[in-house]
Amino acid sequence: MLDRNFLLNSELLLGHEVLGKLGEKCSSLGKRALIICSADSHFTRLCGRVEEELKKASIDFQYFRDVKPNPESDDIEKGARVLKDSGADFILSIGGGSTIDTGKAVSLFLALGSAGWDALFSRYCDFSSTERDLEGLVPSVAIATTAGTGSHLTQATVVTHNGEKKTLYHPQLKPVMSFLDSSTQAEMPLSLRRITGFDAFTHAFESYISTTSNALARALSVGAMKIFLQYLKQDEFSQDDILELIYGDSMAGLALSIGGAGIPHPLSEFLGSIKPAPHGACLAVFYPAYLEHLENEQNEWFIKLCQELGYDSTASFIDAVNSLLKHIGLAKTMRDYGAGEEEKNFVLNHPAIPHLPWASASEIRSIIERSY
Ligand SMILES: [Fe+2]
Repeated sequence: MLDRNFLLNSELLLGHEVLGKLGEKCSSLGKRALIICSADSHFTRLCGRVEEELKKASIDFQYFRDVKPNPESDDIEKGARVLKDSGADFILSIGGGSTIDTGKAVSLFLALGSAGWDALFSRYCDFSSTERDLEGLVPSVAIATTAGTGSHLTQATVVTHNGEKKTLYHPQLKPVMSFLDSSTQAEMPLSLRRITGFDAFTHAFESYISTTSNALARALSVGAMKIFLQYLKQDEFSQDDILELIYGDSMAGLALSIGGAGIPHPLSEFLGSIKPAPHGACLAVFYPAYLEHLENEQNEWFIKLCQELGYDSTASFIDAVNSLLKHIGLAKTMRDYGAGEEEKNFVLNHPAIPHLPWASASEIRSIIERSY
């Protein structure tokens, strides 16, 4: 049995109207905020609400709006310069995973970026570190607008550098506070709710299967998966349904921060590096072949999970996931996202594959082939 240490250093505010506490809660962090969000007009109304709350608490703010899906290192550097010039006491990230990841990475780059990206990637690669050795970080607060990334609870931030998606880990990168308010997610397009929800489902699934997981993470994983298997089938969502997804995302995010991801996550990052498909959609590409791989190897945790979820066999669980993917429009292959032979070979021959710990390189390449 492995020791699994982890830091819980975040305050979560979950509910139908928790945003009303934003000013009061953020006052403890200082009087100046840098708001990080995308320029998408979808956020205009929410930003207005946030501004009102900050003004009520006499907190000054300015914006960094250069957030893009799959944040690039150049944009992180730009954000770090804006953060420095702003003199902000804290970062307020409003958005989904890419935005929350941007907030984490901007703070890290401002504190330690002079070492260069390669030094950061090699220094902050320890998923399970519990050190509190980072100095100079500007704390971040997350307002999550999707129930699907878990980024508000994880020690990870994914940054695209020189065309490759890479992950930085440190426990102090976790937002110190997160607002998970169903009202901020009510107008989300159905397709985005499904894509981000499937991402959260995979966090729960992969952290359950992980051999470095534990009883705490697995209990959270099962709870989260029950929520996603039930709610993701829906075509309409009430505020209460959205809150269920928010709970599921947080349970899955916490499980992920303990157990870690599995094979589909790096594969989705390889594909996402070369095709502009959303993260959750890239994950869905590899899931059918990944689940078959677990079934073929008679993975003991996969068998236990299916039993815990009430399926009479791994085959019936696989059928349920495949029909869910079909229903939510994510039953697609690499080819469906425009990948040709060249892109397939890029993923197949990615230099990280022989170093992935969960299966042999030939087994992983077989999953890729079957997902093409
Ligand atoms: Fe993910």
